[in-house]
Amino acid sequence: MAIRKVARLGHPVLRQAAEPVPVGEIRSPAIQRLIDDMIETMHEYDGAGLAGNQVHELKRIAVIEVAGNPRYPDAPSIPLTVLVNPVVTPLTEEREEGWEGCLSVPDMRGLVPRYTAVRLEGYDRDGTPIDLVAKDFFARVIQHEADHLDGVMYVDRMRDLSTLSHIAEWQKHWLGIVEPDD
Ligand code: NI
Repeated sequence: MAIRKVARLGHPVLRQAAEPVPVGEIRSPAIQRLIDDMIETMHEYDGAGLAGNQVHELKRIAVIEVAGNPRYPDAPSIPLTVLVNPVVTPLTEEREEGWEGCLSVPDMRGLVPRYTAVRLEGYDRDGTPIDLVAKDFFARVIQHEADHLDGVMYVDRMRDLSTLSHIAEWQKHWLGIVEPDD
């Protein structure tokens, strides 16, 4: 396993659409190694999730895990989830504002509207189909990661760029005023 270099906002790879992984290749050593590296990289930088584009791999793979994360101390836990070729369908018109950050936009937070319930289809790292309903924070993280695979960054989704904050200022001026997902 290896920690990969994470592309930052402005790198063109973050603005490209990633390619689907042929289902027959999901279990290949190359894809399994990439998934392991993505998990290790997410852990190293305390990310809640990481998408292929962010490690310069235009493959539709994302990893998600939230458990006692110092970057998101108040976030609900999400077990380690590997998504290959995720397809996200909103199940409601309702969107909720919540704070997001991104390893590719270091030390920043912004308020982003997301659907509160989505259907997630795709494959896990064994090539087993996934079909589930995700709500609230899990739905938010899924939408954030699926956007990466289409070359979309969270800042593109913000309704009000005046909430875009450096983390130190956010902790002083915003934290506690608008709780995520309330
Ligand atoms: Ni991100």
